[in-house]
Amino acid sequence: MKTKHTIYLGNALERLKELPDESVDLIFADPPYNMSKKKGLGWKYSKHITMQEQWDMFSKDGYFQFNQQWIKEALRVLKHGGSLWISGSFHNIYQVGFILQHYNDVKINNSIVWFKPNAQPNITCRFFTESTEHLIWASKNGNKKKWKFNYQWTKDGIEDHINPKGKQTRNVWVIPLTPKKEKLAGVHPTQKPEELLRRIILSCTEEGDTVLDPFLGSGTTSVVAKNFNRNSIGIELNKKYKRIINKRLKPTQRKINEDYEVEFIP
Ligand SMILES: C[S@@+](CC[C@H](N)C(=O)[O-])C[C@H]1O[C@@H](n2cnc3c(N)ncnc32)[C@H](O)[C@@H]1O
Repeated sequence: MKTKHTIYLGNALERLKELPDESVDLIFADPPYNMSKKKGLGWKYSKHITMQEQWDMFSKDGYFQFNQQWIKEALRVLKHGGSLWISGSFHNIYQVGFILQHYNDVKINNSIVWFKPNAQPNITCRFFTESTEHLIWASKNGNKKKWKFNYQWTKDGIEDHINPKGKQTRNVWVIPLTPKKEKLAGVHPTQKPEELLRRIILSCTEEGDTVLDPFLGSGTTSVVAKNFNRNSIGIELNKKYKRIINKRLKPTQRKINEDYEVEFIP
């Protein structure tokens, strides 16, 4: 099956408006978490600075408006019966959930706790070590359509330290940090592991469906969609990540699925 992968370079708040109503089957959004600081976060015993990304800095009100705006547009573009997955940490996930709860046709199906067994140590030594992220799985119901859930696949296709193969999958997933072999195309500060997207995409879509990621980053969603015969649309603000996305979407040595087309829209 030939699939298509379109990447818009620009601001999701504007580029989402170019997509037609009810045109995608699944949205995975890994938005800015608003955790970065002007001076970044430093280690107690080294000069290493982290969390200093401009795209991840908002005022309190500005951040709330941003979340309201992109979620509204994303829900317009999502088909009835389609799924919206949003990832976050304690910095943003409650706000995102609060916004979703105001929509009458949106149902929150699960929240997933992603446990990272090899999470980074706490750099301030003044808190417990964060070793989880949270994912909200919501669906847009209506028009007599209900969400897709490939139940049997979740039993056969998901396996980790908490979830044995062949059993119902729990809402706690054990997935290590993004491995080095997935970062060969270049550095993105918040690249998600392909295994996380594999679980989401294969649980909630069929071959030939279309997956949208409004904050594409290094392109993980498109890469996984391509590998499993789904179409994808991605939006990324920072043009510097185009090179990484392009490299990751190039024909692979693994030859998982080579029959596809990639288009960048400036
Ligand atoms: C958390 S990262 C996503 C990482 C991605 N899931 C991956 O695996 O690489 C968020 C991305 O959204 C981009 N971004 C931030 N604000 C944006 C906006 N308004 N429109 C589109 N992209 C945006 C950032 O440049 C960053 O690459």
